[in-house]
Amino acid sequence: MRTRIKEVIEQGTGAALCSFSGWVRSVRSSKEVCFIVLNDGSTLDGIQVVAASSLPDFGNFCRMGTGTALTVTGALVASPASGQKWEIAAHSIEIIGASDDSYPLQKKRHTFEYLRTIAHLRPRTNTFGAVFRLRSRLAQAVHRFFSEQNFLYVHTPIITASDCEGAGELFRVSTLDAADPPVLDGQPDFSQDFFGRKTGLTVSGQLEGELFAQAFGDIYTFGPTFRAENSNTARHASEFWMIEPEMAFANLADDADLAEKFIRYLCRFALEECAEDMAFFDTHIENGLIERIRGVADADFVRMEYADAIERLQRSGVTFTYPVEWGLDLQTEHERYITEQIVGGPTFIINYPKDIKAFYMRQNDDGRTVAAMDLLVPKVGEIIGGSQREERLDRLELRMAEMGIAREPLWWYLDSRRWGSCPHAGFGLGFERLVMYLSGIENIRDVIPFPRTPRHCEF
Ligand code: 4AD
Ligand code: MG
Repeated sequence: MRTRIKEVIEQGTGAALCSFSGWVRSVRSSKEVCFIVLNDGSTLDGIQVVAASSLPDFGNFCRMGTGTALTVTGALVASPASGQKWEIAAHSIEIIGASDDSYPLQKKRHTFEYLRTIAHLRPRTNTFGAVFRLRSRLAQAVHRFFSEQNFLYVHTPIITASDCEGAGELFRVSTLDAADPPVLDGQPDFSQDFFGRKTGLTVSGQLEGELFAQAFGDIYTFGPTFRAENSNTARHASEFWMIEPEMAFANLADDADLAEKFIRYLCRFALEECAEDMAFFDTHIENGLIERIRGVADADFVRMEYADAIERLQRSGVTFTYPVEWGLDLQTEHERYITEQIVGGPTFIINYPKDIKAFYMRQNDDGRTVAAMDLLVPKVGEIIGGSQREERLDRLELRMAEMGIAREPLWWYLDSRRWGSCPHAGFGLGFERLVMYLSGIENIRDVIPFPRTPRHCEF
């Protein structure tokens, strides 16, 4: 049985002989001894293996390439070298899979851009090891948080017939012959398609999540989300993961409270449970990261009216690329200015103009805004989007009519307002944006294992 390097580093000596398996990061040798740094992915640093020249095949070990897969049996001993507590005195070493000079991850530091072209190998680097360990632990933390809060986890569908956000960004799911589809009135006839209707990949699990909230009270979804939006930015992916809680008998303030508690929990979790990787990010990716995250874990998040945000942007005297005016959506440059310069920390912007938000948001009494909230954070901008939902059937139907949204395909959504409708609210947290925020990594392509972006779908 293979022992994880992380376990022996945490538990120290005790066991007699252990067997370790991993990949060689570096080899340094002299006539008498060969030092091998072995990494098995369980920790950042891996462990140093000391092979004495008395071992059979000693010469082969000295010539091993970076990237070789090895199994080492040996004893964990206190290391005389500085910077490491333990090392392995090898009793035997077996080369499992050789590697050579053509292995693309040799010692030198590579750029993020280059590493994206070898996304199949980059998990074997320190940076991506840290990113994907953090990502994995955070996913587990998300479930832990909601489980502690007694939320029900619901798997909403990935194939859907409704465009929740109404932005027309659905990837089509179809088995029709693209070259020669059946045609009706000059249009492809989707009634002959696999599902007998036009379908796509979900842009959000919210609408189905609302149905479950109206049965279980508090629920969340956490799953893949797809958007065919042609934005080639550092924060947009065509496939990403979203966490969407939904609470019955809750309003916008409750929604913001939950989001704040959730983000603070995740910050604390990263600092406490991923300390080694966070220290790496602090040193190599963003100096001061740990201080920043600690600040967020303890801070009260500011809540600012959209109208107030517009006024303060206008008063800032800064020339932005995009116009700032009541009624227009905030662009990343505005969002970052608010959270970085005006507030200096996480900020909820609340009560947006209804015309820039989705049909399902609850209409405020002023007749021109909806009970929406976006959480903005330094470096990333929008990390969460949420709202209180319109629970009044007549108001919802009116708004759908105004926006030209057909009622018939959403009959089930409207039904939820017909019987036992109640105030409810929820939000969506982009999981990649969270990982970016907590690691300091600036491009979304570098926090998702195999990124999908416009014109790019390798692997
Ligand atoms: O603001 P959005 O579009 O909100 C919704 O989808 C709601 N249905 C959520 C809800 O109320 N249940 O998306 C929510 C979050 C954004 O704040 C952002 O973090 C992330 O999802 N997001 C993306 N992340 C990566 N790439 C994209 N293309 C993203 N689009 C949205
Ligand atoms: Mg949004």
